[in-house]
Amino acid sequence: MRAISELGDLRGKRVLVRSDLNVPLEPGAAGPTITDDGRIRASVPTIAALSEAGARVVVCAHLGRPKGAPEDRYSLAPVATRLGELLGREVTFATDTVGESARSAVESAQDGDVVLLENLRFNPGETAKTDDERAAFAGELASLADVFVSDGFGVVHRKQASVYDVARLLPSAVGGLVETEVGVLKRLTESPERPYAVVLGGAKVSDKLGVIDNLLQTADRLLIGGGMVFTFFKAQGYEVGTSLLEADQVERVKGYLDQAKERGVEIVLPVDIVAATAFSAEADHEVVPAGAIPADRMGLDIGPESGVLFAEKLKDCETVFWNGPMGAFEMAPYAAGTAAVAKALVEVTERGALTVVGGGDSAAAVRQLGFTDDQFGHISTGGGASLEYLEGRQLPGLTVLDEETTR
Ligand code: 3PG
Repeated sequence: MRAISELGDLRGKRVLVRSDLNVPLEPGAAGPTITDDGRIRASVPTIAALSEAGARVVVCAHLGRPKGAPEDRYSLAPVATRLGELLGREVTFATDTVGESARSAVESAQDGDVVLLENLRFNPGETAKTDDERAAFAGELASLADVFVSDGFGVVHRKQASVYDVARLLPSAVGGLVETEVGVLKRLTESPERPYAVVLGGAKVSDKLGVIDNLLQTADRLLIGGGMVFTFFKAQGYEVGTSLLEADQVERVKGYLDQAKERGVEIVLPVDIVAATAFSAEADHEVVPAGAIPADRMGLDIGPESGVLFAEKLKDCETVFWNGPMGAFEMAPYAAGTAAVAKALVEVTERGALTVVGGGDSAAAVRQLGFTDDQFGHISTGGGASLEYLEGRQLPGLTVLDEETTR
């Protein structure tokens, strides 16, 4: 992969930067509010460095999953404002992706100026399944620039026009954020210091099958929480009440439990659960043993004893990767499990171990619970991307940059 410094003198050059600015928004009377600006902050250093080098910086990004047509609620306009505040300079917002507004904003940009294009996914070519459609949109994006910098780590697992196809059309380089993220994940996959523990949470086990397959070969301990844990409970013969359950995955999970035993990988499951009568902060809730969830209750968090157990299992680890909250942390009665894991990670970080928090949800969770980024070794901006990397899959947005250097 070519570094930005290898693109030569960028003064006066138009540089298209793919960033991941997919941040959570909350609608409000005075317009939407960004509830976690972590991805914007993480994108600033590359954009600022290019601007300081005198480039005319054209930032492109997506927000949410619109279906190839403009939708107000997915506009990047609030992101442009926040990006400008963080950069300390004006960001010109183009109200389309490759149309009149984008072209005129880029044409009038002076050295050092920053332009942000509207949500790439307002154009059907961005996510098109056919190579030709994607390439056509990539061609229009490429016509706005002289060189391309790939800095949206959260999307490198997507074969999309602004991630993959455009890198084949322009001289391309890897941005500093992608470089850092890949460097950290390499340490986890190639030579993790041991003991190496992985904490997995989040709603669905079916989203994590590939990574569990891979971790059974590489990790020493797997700690499981979140909605996915109930499928593990079922595989052990426990009743789970009305908790989230993926009945079609129970056999597969049984296979994982057997494999883990054979390989000497310790799977740690919660010993108690916060069980509620409904998915609501106001619902009646109580802590029950893991094997005794009442038939009319759903598990919404790991219980306090499990928090202590998980912290104990992380205490001696030299490497910890964490993806996915332990419960419905957005609601105060079910946030303690996620907070307990975050606190345990902070403690092992202070001891000098490498800790990586992967993914939009987990990153948002730790910030919402009052932790700061610098309390952890690394907070990844990519949820799906970091999991696919750990699965050992080829990520199109990275392989295309390798091809670029061989061209
Ligand atoms: C993410 O939120 O993980 C990235 O921005 C990618 O978004 P996507 O899953 O909609 O492609």
